[in-house]
Amino acid sequence: MKEVLAEKPAETLLRFHNVAAGYGKTAILENLSFSIENDDYLAIVGSNGAGKTTLIRTLLGLLPTVAGQVEFPRGALHFGYVPQLQSLDEIFPLTALEIVKMGLFGRLGALKRPTRAETDKARASLEEVGIGELENHLFRELSGGQKQRALIARALVAEPDVLVLDEHTNNLDISGEKAIMALVDEVHHKHNVAVVMVTHSLGAVANHAKHIGLIQQGRFDFAPVETVMQSDYLSEFYGVPMRVLEVEGVRAIV
Ligand SMILES: Nc1ncnc2c1ncn2[C@@H]1O[C@H](COP(=O)(O)OP(=O)(O)OP(=O)(O)O)[C@@H](O)[C@H]1O
Ligand SMILES: [Mg+2]
Repeated sequence: MKEVLAEKPAETLLRFHNVAAGYGKTAILENLSFSIENDDYLAIVGSNGAGKTTLIRTLLGLLPTVAGQVEFPRGALHFGYVPQLQSLDEIFPLTALEIVKMGLFGRLGALKRPTRAETDKARASLEEVGIGELENHLFRELSGGQKQRALIARALVAEPDVLVLDEHTNNLDISGEKAIMALVDEVHHKHNVAVVMVTHSLGAVANHAKHIGLIQQGRFDFAPVETVMQSDYLSEFYGVPMRVLEVEGVRAIV
């Protein structure tokens, strides 16, 4: 476990200026303007095919922008990425610990001989996400929730500035989803790591995120969670009546 670091003053890590994100010359999303602070928790919410993964891959620099600029006021960032699908990892007979070591060395890193210190670091990361005892289990044989924990450990092991998660609770049940959301909250605070989370469920992030980016049919709205989680705001954005209830500080959409 790492020690709790002192709070850092708010600092902008990344800024999108009228970015169009897409493939080649074809924009999937346009006029994306928002920024991410060092202590931020941004949730990108949209339905299937809305362009969430496209936005994330643009943010990570894996896709060039179709238009506009992404600015890094503090210099290059180190991202820890939990991608949406892990089909490749399922093929290789890698253990949970080897999967985490990939976070230190990249995809082929599992074949390299790590130093003692690197192995210890990977172990500590697995322990932090609560599955230290599974280090020698094959990744492909883990449960959905355990796989997500291993992938979060892999994303965190190199101490990123921003933890990026794409639909990481998709195939989990409600209690599994709650447990993973609590884990992300915990590492967000403990590591002082900014979080960018992609989901199709606004309800899932309504009580966790600081900012929300809503995507709907090419439209993108970015605002603080308190602004978005208002009946009028959501009804207007989605064009259908929606109500936000707040019971004992917990927000729910009906
Ligand atoms: N490599 C690609 N080349 C061209 N178009 C693509 C490519 N990848 C995705 N798209 C298109 O971009 C659009 C947005 O896809 P994207 O994967 O970003 O959606 P998403 O919101 O992540 O969806 P899901 O919730 O299903 O993961 C889709 O119409 C998709 O067909
Ligand atoms: Mg996606």
